[in-house]
Amino acid sequence: MTASKPELYRDLADQLAALLAGEADRVANAANMAALIYHGLPDLNWAGFYFRQGGELVLGPFQGKPACVRILIGQGVCGTAASRGATVLVADVHDFPGHIACDPVSRSELVVPLVESGAVLGVLDLDSPLLARFDEADQEGCERLVALLVEHQYPDAWR
Ligand code: SME
Repeated sequence: MTASKPELYRDLADQLAALLAGEADRVANAANMAALIYHGLPDLNWAGFYFRQGGELVLGPFQGKPACVRILIGQGVCGTAASRGATVLVADVHDFPGHIACDPVSRSELVVPLVESGAVLGVLDLDSPLLARFDEADQEGCERLVALLVEHQYPDAWR
């Protein structure tokens, strides 16, 4: 029997908590989280992080094909989520003005900002080759995973 999405995300949250336990390194934790998500969720072609540096996002740990390195805050789906400080769920990337096509195979996208004490530290970006791959259950599940990561890190490690 296939697990429901909430069950799947609860399982991923448990695994993430175990991976983060006792480790404070931002790159190591983000790299393991990207690998956990990429291999744990079906139908993804990219999963990873961009970290904010001033007015732009810079590529961080990820799984998938090589991607755009720098994205201006406010640009594309990632930069929009970063500027709003809120999750952006895109059912069809062709309908999102300004979408940045790192991989033309991507058809839908979910971007969750990393917010700590009101500051946007970066984003988690998930891409799928399927139309409308992500729904509210994915949004809630990924926001929970991101919260685990942000709460785990010492704030100073991110700045
Ligand atoms: N599609 C994103 C760019 C990042 S890649 O998908 C990895 C965007 O529009 O911001």
